[in-house]
Amino acid sequence: MATTRFLTGITPSGTPHLGNYVGAIRPAVQSSQRADVQSFYFLADYHGLIKGADPQRLQRSTLEIAASWLAAGLDPEKVMLYRQSDVPEIPELCWLLTCVTGKGLLNRAHAYKASVDKNVAAGNDVDADVTAGLFMYPVLMAADILMFKANKVPVGRDQVQHLEMARDIASSFNHLYGELLVLPEVVIDDNVATLPGLDGRKMSKSYNNTIPLFTPREQLRKLINGFTTDSRAPGEPKETEGSALFQLFQAFASAEETAALAAQYAQGIAWGDAKQRVFERLDQEIAPMRARYESLMADPAQIEKILRVGGERARALATPFTQQLREAVGLRSLAQIQAPKADKAQKSALPQFKQYREADGKFYFKLVSASGQLLLQSTAFDAPKEAGQSIARLQQQGTAALAELAARLAPVDGVGQDEVAKALDQLLAAANA
Ligand code: TRP
Repeated sequence: MATTRFLTGITPSGTPHLGNYVGAIRPAVQSSQRADVQSFYFLADYHGLIKGADPQRLQRSTLEIAASWLAAGLDPEKVMLYRQSDVPEIPELCWLLTCVTGKGLLNRAHAYKASVDKNVAAGNDVDADVTAGLFMYPVLMAADILMFKANKVPVGRDQVQHLEMARDIASSFNHLYGELLVLPEVVIDDNVATLPGLDGRKMSKSYNNTIPLFTPREQLRKLINGFTTDSRAPGEPKETEGSALFQLFQAFASAEETAALAAQYAQGIAWGDAKQRVFERLDQEIAPMRARYESLMADPAQIEKILRVGGERARALATPFTQQLREAVGLRSLAQIQAPKADKAQKSALPQFKQYREADGKFYFKLVSASGQLLLQSTAFDAPKEAGQSIARLQQQGTAALAELAARLAPVDGVGQDEVAKALDQLLAAANA
């Protein structure tokens, strides 16, 4: 069966929350179980460095995110799961791509532009606090994707421009060095729910309204109890429309369960009871994963081992491909150096055939050496086509054509056969180079 390659990077920054689970982890784990799909997931820890210097946090977050994805059911035997920094071929490809990427392309990247705009608005130097890492972010991301010839890249809407850039960069590379890179397609799943956070706005780290995915059970209950609701009393009918609590439930429940809760809303379920119902439903899905998460977190060396193995499998693909790319761009072994191809300067240093018409109305050709010495002179042809055909035979067959054409060649004083042969050989060699 033809398989499509899906690839997604997860930047290790912070602890995964329910919104990450519903929006990214759960759909990715589901799609990784499809037989017609080959999935690549990696921890984009080099990208994590761009967000600021905090070594401990980067390490901690890498651990938590790896444990979360494994606990959520990602099977490292079935998918490629690795850490970006375990594949040194990725930054190497990043450099090859950097050299074919227009600076202007990167100037237009949203994240970089936003930083510049912020500086301008604040009256600062345009590049204040802007690292070259931020500027280069899209090239590193392109390297992540292109290294593994991914066909599809599932990302959030905010990443669409990065995918367009990856395609642009790949096209530039292919144009210069041959069709080696696969152009990836972006996949945006508009069906995946964005979860509301504690305050009703989208659940997001930047709003500080998140619920950590694997927060302990009692903590989960407490946080759900903290959801903002309105002041309707028990018994008063409640609307599901615009109820953050209801949306949260819906993201975890079946259609029937959702309909049942909607009916309870209409009947005036007390907010406290609704919260309890939501908590129970969420915990039902999360509890088994939480148990796995806790045991994984208790044994970080095991996660390290899983990632190492994944890294080796990823490198088994990356190493030969990188060799092919190095070869293509000219980072080559010197042991088998090729003779330089005849370039323009050398071409003009070759002997030349010249075809012309004389005052007698007949057509002629001659062969002159690079320095202008006459080597061959034809007799008269009635038609230019005949002269041209004789030239073509000499060009294609070299000295072998000389005997057949003997009758059409006039003697040239002071030119040896070996000189003519050498000139014809030179032309043949240049044509076949
Ligand atoms: N930029 C992505 C994000 O912030 C993370 C990422 C890095 C990524 N490299 C990638 C996603 C390659 C997809 C493919 O979400």
